[in-house]
Amino acid sequence: MCGIVGYIGNKSGTGMVLDGLEALEYRGYDSAGIALIDGAKGQVFKQVGRVSGLVKEVSKKKPEARLVMGHTRWATHGGVTVQNAHPQANNRQSIFVVHNGIIENFAEIRAKLKTEGYHFDSQTDTEVIPNLIDFYLKQLPTFEDAFKAALNDVRGAYSIVAVSTKEPETLYAARLSSPLVIGIGKDENFLASDPSAIMEHTKKVIYLEDYDVAVITKSKVSVHNLKQDKQTEPKVELLDYENEQALLGDYPNFMLKEIFEAPATIKTATLGRAQADKNLVKLGGLESVLRQLKFIDRIVIVACGTSYYAGLVGEYLIEELAGIPVEVHLASEFKYRDEPFSRSTVLLAISQSGETADTIAALKKVEDYGVLRLGIVNAVGSTIARMTDAGVYCHAGPEKAVASTKAFIAQVTVLSEIALHLGAESKNNPKLFKALLKELNELPAKAQAVLDTADQIKKVAEKYKDYRDFLFIGRHNAFPSALEGALKLKEISYIHAEGYAAGEMKHGPLAMIDASFPTFAIATDSPLLEKTYSNIQEIRARGGPVVAIATEGNKSIKDLVDDVIYIPKALDELQPVLHATATQLFAYYIAMARGYDVDRPRNLAKSVTVE
Ligand code: F6R
Repeated sequence: MCGIVGYIGNKSGTGMVLDGLEALEYRGYDSAGIALIDGAKGQVFKQVGRVSGLVKEVSKKKPEARLVMGHTRWATHGGVTVQNAHPQANNRQSIFVVHNGIIENFAEIRAKLKTEGYHFDSQTDTEVIPNLIDFYLKQLPTFEDAFKAALNDVRGAYSIVAVSTKEPETLYAARLSSPLVIGIGKDENFLASDPSAIMEHTKKVIYLEDYDVAVITKSKVSVHNLKQDKQTEPKVELLDYENEQALLGDYPNFMLKEIFEAPATIKTATLGRAQADKNLVKLGGLESVLRQLKFIDRIVIVACGTSYYAGLVGEYLIEELAGIPVEVHLASEFKYRDEPFSRSTVLLAISQSGETADTIAALKKVEDYGVLRLGIVNAVGSTIARMTDAGVYCHAGPEKAVASTKAFIAQVTVLSEIALHLGAESKNNPKLFKALLKELNELPAKAQAVLDTADQIKKVAEKYKDYRDFLFIGRHNAFPSALEGALKLKEISYIHAEGYAAGEMKHGPLAMIDASFPTFAIATDSPLLEKTYSNIQEIRARGGPVVAIATEGNKSIKDLVDDVIYIPKALDELQPVLHATATQLFAYYIAMARGYDVDRPRNLAKSVTVE
């Protein structure tokens, strides 16, 4: 949440920073701003709304400076106003700060600074930072000392960039639990929340670690770790992926493009890994921990949102194939639990962005437990990818739309590969092992077949676009699909939607059902199909409209429900991939029919870097 970009060099950095902000807009899009330091003068441009508005505004004036930093905001403290947009400045307008994260003790610091004569113009937590630096600058010899003193006072999570009109050649940056990467150029250096904003300019990067404070000029980067209280030798890494600049092509938006990438996503996630011809699964990312994996007797999955629902699919897969007990926890809840944890437990974090604050906090919580920490991550080089002991990348490519689509497909694919990997040795379920491997290879074509029915799904979606509420139901493997289907619908169409285990309907939710409350039933072939039918009957008996996903060839379901979306016959355990493709399209077409911006739903951001 919130994107940061910075430039110092011999050229004017305005264009680079604005382009970078556009690349980072998925992190927040309430408002945006830039600060330019030219000579001893600071100029700030801020706008409410999209980065494109800021670009328009800035291009009228064509300001130039060799030190520029920018920010795209996802509001936490204070409404969406120009006043609250970043950069924030000190009272004397000589120090400018952009910040991602939350300063938890800002009220206390603000009160203290008020007694020192400072005043505050915004409602942000961020505004205390430039003023606190200013306060310390009156007592300490250098800006760096004042910056560090201010950092020592703040509590919370942050990535911060601070600049001063007195030092037009230097960017000061700090990180604690919120990502920040430095790009190394020739006679120029860059800063960004993630490499996508700078990789057009350089592939050489330094990922800042927690408590790092960096001083960056055009020719030098020095890093001091506040916790260790010493200068550290920053490790320069080479970005090992091509400019994965996601381009829209002929698609109207990224969400539709990413939904349609499902077949390619499965293929990439299984390439060289799921080898049906040899009846084996090879996961290079787990090779370094093979010995440890032999001794595990429990897996705890932690994740948020869609990644959590993928985890629920993984729970069934791993338990069935490997016979290892699995628990799935919402990362935001897990970190406050005081549960027993033995060394033979594995913590498996699932995250598309690799930057989700709650998931990072869950991993940090077990840091000293001596347990193996694994990751299923999409964003290469992200915090979670770097802090886990080993893991398997999703390789789904950049996911730009806020609603997660292809990442879910990749996560379930990878989870099934991990289940196969863990199940291979125990030979817990050889029949399922073989069937699952075969299905993984056939799945891209089946996902494509669902996509080929997009026009039919669109017709059904348009019929239901004006309802206020929706219930999604499913049993066993289809239960996580119901939860994920409901999440997708509510986040982009703003229709109230709930996912429920079909068997739970009679324990409460059935009370809500009437003609104005439709149900989306996931009723594909499975040993439990008849039980789901009974639940659908109970809904129909109360006048509730029903849309169902059913397996191709199931004609009888037409007599039971109002509308049917068919998916190809597939192994029960992997059907959630096909359910997801269908429910993603359903949610997408409803949101489009209601006239919403599906790539940037209100109140949300792609990478949730605050708790
Ligand atoms: C839903 C969605 C979110 C994310 C969640 C976790 O469509 O995008 O629920 O799944 O914020 O994000 P990651 O996977 O990046 O940790």
